[in-house]
Amino acid sequence: MTRAPAGGAIERVGVLGCGLMGAGIAEVCARSGAGVVVVEASDGAVATGRKRLTASLERAVASGRLDSAARDEVLARISFGTGIEAFADRQLVIEAVPEVLELKLDAFRRIDAAVADPEAILASNTSSIPIGRIAAATGRPGQVLGVHFFNPVPVLPLVELVSSLQTSPDTLARARSFAEGLGKQVILAQDRAGFVVNALLVPYLLSAIRMLEAGHASAEDIDTGMVAGCAHPMGPLRLADLVGLDTTLHVANSLYGEFKEPHYAPPALLMRMVDAGRLGRKSGAGFYTYD
Ligand code: 3HC
Repeated sequence: MTRAPAGGAIERVGVLGCGLMGAGIAEVCARSGAGVVVVEASDGAVATGRKRLTASLERAVASGRLDSAARDEVLARISFGTGIEAFADRQLVIEAVPEVLELKLDAFRRIDAAVADPEAILASNTSSIPIGRIAAATGRPGQVLGVHFFNPVPVLPLVELVSSLQTSPDTLARARSFAEGLGKQVILAQDRAGFVVNALLVPYLLSAIRMLEAGHASAEDIDTGMVAGCAHPMGPLRLADLVGLDTTLHVANSLYGEFKEPHYAPPALLMRMVDAGRLGRKSGAGFYTYD
């Protein structure tokens, strides 16, 4: 007989960070019935995150995927604030702060100190930073793992689960059952930079940026090539804009740092665009401009 994982079903979730990914993660958790506490760094970031999450729910209502009573119930299950002590009673905390190692380590030290439940799971939505390195910042590395969602989180069905060398089998089993309860499809990945999806996707995005930089074709033609020629839902430059050029750069740096392979090295054009604040859709301009 298989032993049930310790800790029971997860009904109280914390999400640290309410950017593109954090807002989507909070939304899908609340839509599945969990109570969600969202913590952001400032009142301004809370206001922006709340707006982002509400806009996504409104979109679901407008397209008939959610009725307005259900939207209100979802919103009633989510609370927002700036104090990490609000995570004290959480059974699962998912960190979704920017993809910078020092920020992640600091976030995990603070989450570890705030969460009282000794069986709670501390998860990172990191795109590429080794989970083992993040886990070492806590006093409970066996309960730390990667739970990696895809953008837009309410739409894309995948979650990558990443165990470090120290993640316990119970932690993985509980996280798997939670992710499946969100209606997500789970794949398991080794703790290597980029895991499965970004290790394949990001070099493709970087190749498209190099192609544009070298003048092989226009941004529109590169994108049309992959949409009309390969049936991708969007081309690589539009996708880089959706992911965020800062995030694309951070993931490229993590991949290059780990494997030292030239195809992971960020192209100069990407670095200059990030320097200029052209971060893609979220900043209003990247390879394209947005309202
Ligand atoms: N939030 C919530 N819902 C959204 C949304 C968003 N940001 N964007 C789109 N949707 C919903 C729409 O409401 C619509 O639902 P409906 O059909 O029920 O009304 C549905 O998704 C389709 O949207 P649209 O008709 O507006 O647009 P498209 O059909 O062009 O689809 C897309 C948009 C879903 C973004 C699609 O182009 C797509 O899937 N692109 C690929 C995205 C991708 O590859 N993401 C992975 C990035 S890698 C990553 O996230 C990892 C990270 O670590 C870097």
